[in-house]
Amino acid sequence: MGSAGYVPGIPRLGIPAQWVTDAGMGVATQRDSVDTYRERTALPAGIAVAATFNPDIARAGGAMIGSESYASGFNVLLGGGVDLLREPRNGRNFEYAGEDPLLAGTIVGASVQGIQSQGVISTVKHWALNDQETGRHIYSTDMDDAAAHMSDFLAFELAIEKGKPGSVMCSYNRVRSLYACESDYLLNKVLKGQFKYPGYVMSDWGAVYSTERAALAGLDQQSAGVFDDQPWFGKPLKLAIQNHKVPQSRLDDMARRILRSIFAVGLYDRPITDAKIDFDASKKVAQAAAEESIVLLKNKNNVLPIARTAKRILIVGGHADRGVISGGGSSTVFPVGGIAVPGLDVKGWYGPIVYLPSSPMAALMGRLPQTPFKYLDGNDAAAAAKEAAKADVVLVFATQWSTEDADHTMNLDGNQDELIRTVAAANPNTVVVVESGNPIFMPWADQVAGIVEAWFPGSGGGDAIARVLLGEVDASGRLPATFPASLDQFPQQQLPGSGLKDGTPFVINYPEGAAVGYKWFDKKNLKPLFPFGYGLSYTQFAYSDLGAAMNDGKLTVHFTVKNVGNRDGKDAPQIYVSPKNGSWEAPKRLAGWSKVSLASGASTTVTLIVDPRLLSVHDGSQWKLSNGPFVVSLGASSADIKQNVEVSGTLSR
Ligand code: GLC
Repeated sequence: MGSAGYVPGIPRLGIPAQWVTDAGMGVATQRDSVDTYRERTALPAGIAVAATFNPDIARAGGAMIGSESYASGFNVLLGGGVDLLREPRNGRNFEYAGEDPLLAGTIVGASVQGIQSQGVISTVKHWALNDQETGRHIYSTDMDDAAAHMSDFLAFELAIEKGKPGSVMCSYNRVRSLYACESDYLLNKVLKGQFKYPGYVMSDWGAVYSTERAALAGLDQQSAGVFDDQPWFGKPLKLAIQNHKVPQSRLDDMARRILRSIFAVGLYDRPITDAKIDFDASKKVAQAAAEESIVLLKNKNNVLPIARTAKRILIVGGHADRGVISGGGSSTVFPVGGIAVPGLDVKGWYGPIVYLPSSPMAALMGRLPQTPFKYLDGNDAAAAAKEAAKADVVLVFATQWSTEDADHTMNLDGNQDELIRTVAAANPNTVVVVESGNPIFMPWADQVAGIVEAWFPGSGGGDAIARVLLGEVDASGRLPATFPASLDQFPQQQLPGSGLKDGTPFVINYPEGAAVGYKWFDKKNLKPLFPFGYGLSYTQFAYSDLGAAMNDGKLTVHFTVKNVGNRDGKDAPQIYVSPKNGSWEAPKRLAGWSKVSLASGASTTVTLIVDPRLLSVHDGSQWKLSNGPFVVSLGASSADIKQNVEVSGTLSR
């Protein structure tokens, strides 16, 4: 029960069935009965894995969930969510990989590689421009070719190139008024034509509205026909072929693409069997990802790491005594060890709100056995303030649940903002640990000493949070998305479609075009709360010797990073590029980065080759290399550029 789908095989030809499950964080929504769950391991959310800026972490996480899928009897895992975080209020941002196409495509491509290394087909999804949940079955995203190719399409192009997913899932929404799963532009022209995609296109669940139009547009497999008005690709397709409305060659192509992926990923050679899962090993992978994803946003007076001499530690809110929160919808993993806070049901199919049984408080207490801890649930701010006044350190856990099929505001719900302000007024050594799947507003940011973004940290999240707060590991996450300071910084202050009666069609024209996230902030000269690429470490890094040259038509960049602090640490220095003359969609673009791990005093030289597409402008039909000279910038974030060099010369694609 609870698996996503099943496509019968052809035993006489040895063609395996497709056993299909969700999703990007692990084997999801598995039930043995209505209220008994098949427990599996949850990775941190996709946005958290992006915050590691570490493709190796993404690949290892993909391999872990791929192995749990295979051992659970599934050979297709509907992972690879890579829609850009264009809209910070999008309920599914937690499933994706942030606002920048290079980062998102690289991280998700690595995750797909990991999943498929286990002989399990992965998707990339949701193709395309499915960047909010409000009206997801009805809105039409209308964006010009060039802007789409330099933003959302590029994220998919890179993820497909790097991950080679067996399938691409077309999305619910319309693009230029046509449903994605019957859009000749999206499926035939861009995906199969310009991207030369060799695999098969499967529909999202309930995203098909025709037989002939969809088949001729390039749809290869209707998923879970029961979700659609009718099994369009069943008898109606047979009839359409018999009546020559759909050529036999299209049907042959559908079959060839599906079989090609079955063979390419290894499903044919690895018949599915139920196997034992090493959950301890899985949890270690999830925890390692969480540890590298946690972003230290503020650390006034070095309130962190928590001193082991701390006399009294107060922990408030976020069910931190029980577990860590995770996102809702088809990607929800029911966790090994059971749901930590039962009964948090919500209206709508996407519940319950799942807390994974990995308690940050228990993890801290286990590491500080001599230190007295106290927990308050945070419902009574005054009581929390009274206790806070007696503590050395106060940790307030702030959670913002988000889910598929619903968007949200930028504010923490309930009394959390008030609670944080009240506690911080009682004790300046207050640290806020945020568990969210996307950027949030932080009206109390100036009043607290420390801020940590822990995202939805997965099955090892409690231990990961404890290890970072105690400094057992460096804080090395960097923001994969801009945290805006206020709504007036948004390209659209009102969420498109909000306030409309259900079912009312609407069009989304994104005014920012390809200038998504930090590109918008640079273009409009806006100062966010926290910028893309930002994050503090417990040590300090110095950058030097930036150099750039054109070698054999490729832009090669090198620089040196040194750990000048007194403890081991990790950093993600970033390279941005800009045209010296003329302009692109925004002043600069992320063109590369490296996640480095350095002992105190150690240094390393990083060499990067910049993908020529990041030095080009897409004109709707192709990438056109810009003429140099270019400015190459080395930064600790998109808003903290340390060094610039100019480079010119001839580029080749
Ligand atoms: C959902 C989602 C998709 C998921 C599918 C199967 O509604 O949009 O991401 O993989 O249906 O559950």
